Amino acid sequence: MTGNTKKLFIKTYGCQMNVYDSDRMVDALGPHGYETVSEIENADLVLLNTCHIREKAAEKVYSELGRLNKLRQQRRQEGGDLMIGVAGCVAQAEGEEIMARAPSVDLVFGPQSYHRLPQLVSKAATERVVDTEFPEEDKFAHLPAAKKETTIARGLTAFLTVQEGCDKFCSFCVVPYTRGSETSRPVAQIIAEAQSLADAGVMEITLLGQNVNAYHGHDEKGVPVNLGALLYRLAEIKGLERLRYTTSHPNDMSDDLIEAHRDLPQLMPYLHLPVQSGSNKILKAMNRNHTREDYLAIIARIRATRPDMALSGDFIVGFPGETEADFEDTLNIVRETGYASAYSFKYSTRPGTPGAQMDDQVPEDIKLERLHRLQELINQQQTDFNASCIGKIMPVLLDKPGRIEGQLGGRSPYLQAVHLDAATDLLGTIQSVEIIEKRKFSLHGKIVTKQTANSANLGRSEEEQLLSGA
Ligand code: 5AD
Ligand code: SF4
Repeated sequence: MTGNTKKLFIKTYGCQMNVYDSDRMVDALGPHGYETVSEIENADLVLLNTCHIREKAAEKVYSELGRLNKLRQQRRQEGGDLMIGVAGCVAQAEGEEIMARAPSVDLVFGPQSYHRLPQLVSKAATERVVDTEFPEEDKFAHLPAAKKETTIARGLTAFLTVQEGCDKFCSFCVVPYTRGSETSRPVAQIIAEAQSLADAGVMEITLLGQNVNAYHGHDEKGVPVNLGALLYRLAEIKGLERLRYTTSHPNDMSDDLIEAHRDLPQLMPYLHLPVQSGSNKILKAMNRNHTREDYLAIIARIRATRPDMALSGDFIVGFPGETEADFEDTLNIVRETGYASAYSFKYSTRPGTPGAQMDDQVPEDIKLERLHRLQELINQQQTDFNASCIGKIMPVLLDKPGRIEGQLGGRSPYLQAVHLDAATDLLGTIQSVEIIEKRKFSLHGKIVTKQTANSANLGRSEEEQLLSGA
């Protein structure tokens, strides 16, 4: 290590909550002399913030650790060193196993320990450390306030975790084990964090939770507050132009929340509401506690209140016992719902979940064939949705430089990527944009009437990722 500054590299896998957590790790280590670097080769400390949702995600960690081990050996031959830490959901689920399988790992810590990171890192300098406890103390209470420089580096849009963990125990899912039981942050803490982000120039906040619409925090007077009510409170914060939330469960789609979409102009008309399967038999086996009819009725209620709501979802194909007829039910619920975008996955057996014990596991080739058919349908719906936007005028938050010089990129209310010709002084503004063309992964538009810039040169490069949950 050179001088007093130590170089930190964090590699983040998986969902948006991991992105949020990685930023918190940077914030926690900053006051202890760590600054982030963009090249792993330059780091003194490498942290892998991992995802355990599917087998493939977890396996990536071990191959990365193999590469890191070589880098460390090389360093040691040159007289230097490298500390390696594993965080996140693989750490929580496989703490001791990681230590056994990867001797180069110095530190393993779960999602509930990142506020203790500085102490863990100094301890790991002398001994190997595993910390996968679910402590009583509030890890969020130690967050430093957002800074303007941080916003410039991280961008105009920010994530804010309001709820963590899940009590639903869908039979395929590891989240209740890795993130623990459902906890909601107090309203005052969330408002303070949102205010601090807004003060630092953040214009859009996405509230995060594995089961975000199960949020049930308490306000300053101890009164219970649900997600709908929380959104009304957040909408009062000046400068916060846009609010989003993810990921929601159909059974927690309360009237308050649906009405917030009618009442709050800041609340974007985009909802990620996974159903996982369209077959009632499979939904029961998945322990979803709702039917396809329940889901369709919720969608109808939402659309009656907010007709332009763009819907997104998650689907699992090849859950144990899924027949061709069950899969057809899934294709049909997609056709009936009509998604603006959706994510689909082959069922992956997760150790310790009830699904792993079930008979009738579906062969891999059938899973793959179903996945292709489902993805073809979803892609078609996404293409149709994007095509339906051509000629429409919509507000676009210009939040980053475009890939091409002279262009800026942003997001439509429906979370579509939009590119247009504009000077950089329009970064950080919301413009009225006419959509003129559909490209493969984005829309192209032109500004209708230019709004003056209210903040300049702020950009964000991170791609949105899917939050594991619900
Ligand atoms: N196999 C495949 N997909 C899964 N998901 C969660 N667990 C599994 C699993 N065992 C999917 C669900 C969830 C999304 C984040 O990941 O669709 O909504
Ligand atoms: Fe909870 Fe969602 Fe996982 Fe179900 S899929 S157990 S609701 S996180």
